[in-house]
Amino acid sequence: LESLLLLVLWLATAEKGLHMQKVGSGSVRAALAELVALPCLFSLRPRPGATREAPRIKWTKVRTASGQRQDLPILVAKDNVVRVAKGWQGRVSLPTYPRHRANATLLLGPLRASDSGLYRCQVVRGIEDEQDLVPLEVTGVVFHYRAALDRYSLTFAEAQEACRLNSATIAAPRHLQAAFEDGFDNCDAGWLSDRTVRYPITQSRPGCYGDRSSLPGVRNYGRRDPRELYDVYCFARELGGEVFYVGLARRLTLAGARAQCRRQGAVLASVGQLHLAWHEGLDQCDPGWLADGSVRYPIQTPRRRCGGPAPGVRTVYRFVNRTGFPAPGERFDAYCFRGMCEDHGMTLALGLVPYPQKLPTSNPKELSLM
Ligand SMILES: *[C@@H]1O[C@H](CO)[C@@H](O)[C@H](O)[C@H]1NC(C)=O
Ligand SMILES: *[C@@H]1O[C@H](CO)[C@@H](O)[C@H](O)[C@H]1NC(C)=O
Repeated sequence: LESLLLLVLWLATAEKGLHMQKVGSGSVRAALAELVALPCLFSLRPRPGATREAPRIKWTKVRTASGQRQDLPILVAKDNVVRVAKGWQGRVSLPTYPRHRANATLLLGPLRASDSGLYRCQVVRGIEDEQDLVPLEVTGVVFHYRAALDRYSLTFAEAQEACRLNSATIAAPRHLQAAFEDGFDNCDAGWLSDRTVRYPITQSRPGCYGDRSSLPGVRNYGRRDPRELYDVYCFARELGGEVFYVGLARRLTLAGARAQCRRQGAVLASVGQLHLAWHEGLDQCDPGWLADGSVRYPIQTPRRRCGGPAPGVRTVYRFVNRTGFPAPGERFDAYCFRGMCEDHGMTLALGLVPYPQKLPTSNPKELSLM
């Protein structure tokens, strides 16, 4: 039997010796600030004459989430040396190289939203050249939350609760750091999950200094007494449904907006859900009611009279000092949320709960089929 195997092996070497094991079409999904493994597996048969010739492994980023072509080099591994391109240092590695030569899986993280896109793994040995493509989708979004009452009015416990009521959890420092690295700038001190209070500053300015006075960074007040009062940073992970805009000719009060969503088999969206929908591409320059009684709207493409030069979810405050939710009798449009039932693609009517409950985490592949 052994000699038969050797014969098969010998015959095989006459053909292609390098073969990529395609991982399949499914994209890799992972949450913001997590580590992710982008799989790249191949098989190598020894070639007669060229014993133990090591393949060259190359990873590049081919396309960003917005569809732009990039072809950015990430790393190259050859002769037991891994060279990482500038801009990726400290965030990528080949964990099994060179121990397992046929496994070129790339470890990437902590993930940023801007890491979403298409990655190419290329393996070259002599004249043999194989490649595979791995799409990566980074889910989740960090947002600043200020209570209805006033700026800096949440204890640590209230901050946790405020995030929970908005389909999110209180953000961990690594979430805020990842958002900062993608350009998140917010000059309001907010609670984080480790009971520290921080805020991200990409452009240091008087009154809004980064961590080392004039340099950009996440300013950190350290661990605080949980009774102290601040805003909060929340992290929303998965939408598990759809957010849609309702604009009627006659605008709606808060109660009217709640009723209108219910008539459409939905509920008013939470702040976390609107941010997730924005992250997935929702763009609507019309302020609308949300479940917490705030009024906001999502902007992808900044334009005149849509609230400033950067993309983001805008908030309509009652006072010019950016505090207070609008009075419930004022009239706006509405943003509604409809949950998906993963088994049948049925609509879940969540109309009787004041805030949408956290949906069971669904299989993203099944969801995307519907
Ligand atoms: C390849 O390496 C990755 C990262 O270490 C590991 O998780 C995976 O199980 C390996 N796959 C195989 C088939 O060895
Ligand atoms: C903002 O203005 C409102 C109304 O004038 C006031 O009640 C509130 O205390 C102010 N908040 C801050 C932080 O200045």
